[in-house]
Amino acid sequence: MKLIAGNWKMNGLQASAAEADAVRVAPRPRGVELLLCPPATLLAAFAGRLAGSGIGLGGQDCHALASGAHTGDLSAEMLADAGASHVIVGHSERRMDHGETDAIVRAKVQAAWRAGLVAILCVGETLAQREAGQALAVVAAQLAGSVPPGANAARLVIAYEPVWAIGSGLTPTPEQIVEVHQAIAGQMRGLAGEPVRVLYGGSVKPGNAAELLALPGVDGALVGGASLKAGDFLAIAAAAQGQTP
Ligand code: 13P
Repeated sequence: MKLIAGNWKMNGLQASAAEADAVRVAPRPRGVELLLCPPATLLAAFAGRLAGSGIGLGGQDCHALASGAHTGDLSAEMLADAGASHVIVGHSERRMDHGETDAIVRAKVQAAWRAGLVAILCVGETLAQREAGQALAVVAAQLAGSVPPGANAARLVIAYEPVWAIGSGLTPTPEQIVEVHQAIAGQMRGLAGEPVRVLYGGSVKPGNAAELLALPGVDGALVGGASLKAGDFLAIAAAAQGQTP
């Protein structure tokens, strides 16, 4: 089943929680799993609104430890306690803004599993790395460094997000996406012993979602800007309906 996940990043005030209502009451595309990852300040409001809807709720990051003296951080256990089922880890914005290394990201994946959350692990190359012909090697190294032992399809999802495609309106060519997704799928079969879902992320919009989601090996989308409006998010989800898993 395709997974369409909305990463709200640092956007949304209490009034924006109404978007969760709009997603909840809209006709649900069949055979598509939906997930919303609002900022932490909206998790509780979203949890109340989405309860019983089958729409998942995710955090955007977590600390590796369960509790302690880490001002401003949130643990995976806190996210679970607030109603989350998933957590995004290793997003390129975290890697860049907060200097997160693969080792740190790996510890966060383990923290997610410890708390019973599904980890959505983000990988992807920069434009300079793509232009230097290093995209596959960069992604492979990120996976090798950040997927802990014990990975399986039930608790790990990979998101391929080329850094240069995020928020830029640019997307890789279909051939580039298929090439990276196939490489990730192959590596993950080795690491997890079974297929793990691989999402594409980076400038996914209602206008390009059908084409992107139809590509072989694209098991869903991690959507940033276009997830902030329920209508756009639902249009992307509708584009996933009826496509092969
Ligand atoms: P945009 O969809 O805004 O390009 O963001 C993608 C992303 O980073 C999702 O995690």
